[in-house]
Amino acid sequence: MELWISIWECPVAVKINFCCVKCMMKCVNNSQLLVDLTLSVCVCLFVCFASWEVLRFLLSNLRWWMDEYGFDGFRFDGVTSMLYHHHGMGAGFSGDYSEYFGLQVDEDALVYLMLANHILHTLYPDCITVAEDVSGMPALCRGVEEGGLGFDYRLAMAIPDKWIQILKECKDEDWDIGNIVHTLTNRRYGEKCIAYAESHDQALVGDKTLAFWLMDKEMYTNMSSLTPMTPVIDRGIQLHKMIRLLTHGLGGEGYLNFIGKEVLRDISVILSGLNSSYVQETGNEFGHPEWLDFPREGNDQSYHYARRQFNLLDMGNLRYHQLFVFDRDMNLTEDKYGWLAAPPAFVSAKHEEDKVIVFERGRVLFIFNFNPSQSFQDYRVAVETPGTYPLAFVCHGKACFPLNIQELAFFCHSFKAS
Ligand SMILES: *[C@@H]1O[C@H](CO)[C@@H](O)[C@H](O)[C@H]1NC(C)=O
Ligand SMILES: *[C@@H]1O[C@H](CO)[C@@H](O)[C@H](O)[C@H]1NC(C)=O
Ligand SMILES: *[C@@H]1O[C@H](CO)[C@@H](O)[C@H](O)[C@H]1NC(C)=O
Repeated sequence: MELWISIWECPVAVKINFCCVKCMMKCVNNSQLLVDLTLSVCVCLFVCFASWEVLRFLLSNLRWWMDEYGFDGFRFDGVTSMLYHHHGMGAGFSGDYSEYFGLQVDEDALVYLMLANHILHTLYPDCITVAEDVSGMPALCRGVEEGGLGFDYRLAMAIPDKWIQILKECKDEDWDIGNIVHTLTNRRYGEKCIAYAESHDQALVGDKTLAFWLMDKEMYTNMSSLTPMTPVIDRGIQLHKMIRLLTHGLGGEGYLNFIGKEVLRDISVILSGLNSSYVQETGNEFGHPEWLDFPREGNDQSYHYARRQFNLLDMGNLRYHQLFVFDRDMNLTEDKYGWLAAPPAFVSAKHEEDKVIVFERGRVLFIFNFNPSQSFQDYRVAVETPGTYPLAFVCHGKACFPLNIQELAFFCHSFKAS
């Protein structure tokens, strides 16, 4: 099933004091109405949620998109900047409750978000709302009737930042396994998150996607499977897959993907599994080379980079195609086992020296070896229930591929700890 949701981004070239209806709509979800081009930050000069007319306008606007366009939900952009008078700027969030409850909270904005979620979920029971909130406001994703803000999901924004930071700053042998696991599991119990390894934020000009950090210029010349594998491409492809699978398994209750049959960046697609969500946006799932850049003064209004090169997927002898196949199979495997809908994972091992992560979720056992130089044999891992486990994915040395489920089994015995 394909679901359409809208994404409103902070416009990059809006003139100061330019205020049309469209901008007010953006303000809604954004409180980043106007862009201060001199500071190149988005500042909202239009915080007006207390006004009756504004509220009415904003709420009926949501309804209009639902009724007229049959949207399946909304992703509210920049929720952190709405929630606090300090707009999240210069504020740290360590998890202490005093950071979330106090006079710094913009109650009018908070009430608007509760109202928005209330009307959306009441009028359209299937509607999905997603909050882009980096602060981790408690009860953001609990029902309004419980005193929550009523969102279905929060975007786990710390995860992509963590991956980029690791690829930028760490050598392979220095990866901090405990810290990776912490970032992937650091969410409020009972509030659902959408995990993702990267988003359009990384694909836009000025930043680099995971694939670019991993493989850089070799993506232009060495991606044909007809030429020998180079060490850079080999490492890049394996890590690209492992990072995705780990994020998918451990990071949330939904997964955001970026292959996108997207109309620029204003619309994204949610593909919903049984109880889990799969969001699709623009981007880099298949290691798309290059970046996104929209026509603007700085690039002579060029459309050259305002494109996705889906043609790369049609050439079976390009390794982009293999990355895509992995991604598809990962998605289908989840569909079969439903780990996204299962309770949070039980992490039984995060071994700093071996660089091994083991966890169990939804009756699926995940074992990752991030060790750049060592493989292990007879590695002992813990499982909750002894028995036979079918192998769904094997990533080993040069290849990372899904198996025919019947093909191989992985046995475990119960044993007594002495
Ligand atoms: C990778 O690309 C470079 C640049 O074109 C080329 O010189 C090199 O031979 C390629 N390596 C392989 C293994 O094809
Ligand atoms: C991903 O899985 C969903 C079901 O959970 C399915 O509807 C969708 O087509 C799949 N997408 C891809 C790219 O395989
Ligand atoms: C989906 O949710 C329903 C009710 O919440 C539950 O009965 C069902 O087992 C779930 N399905 C999966 C695959 O987790």
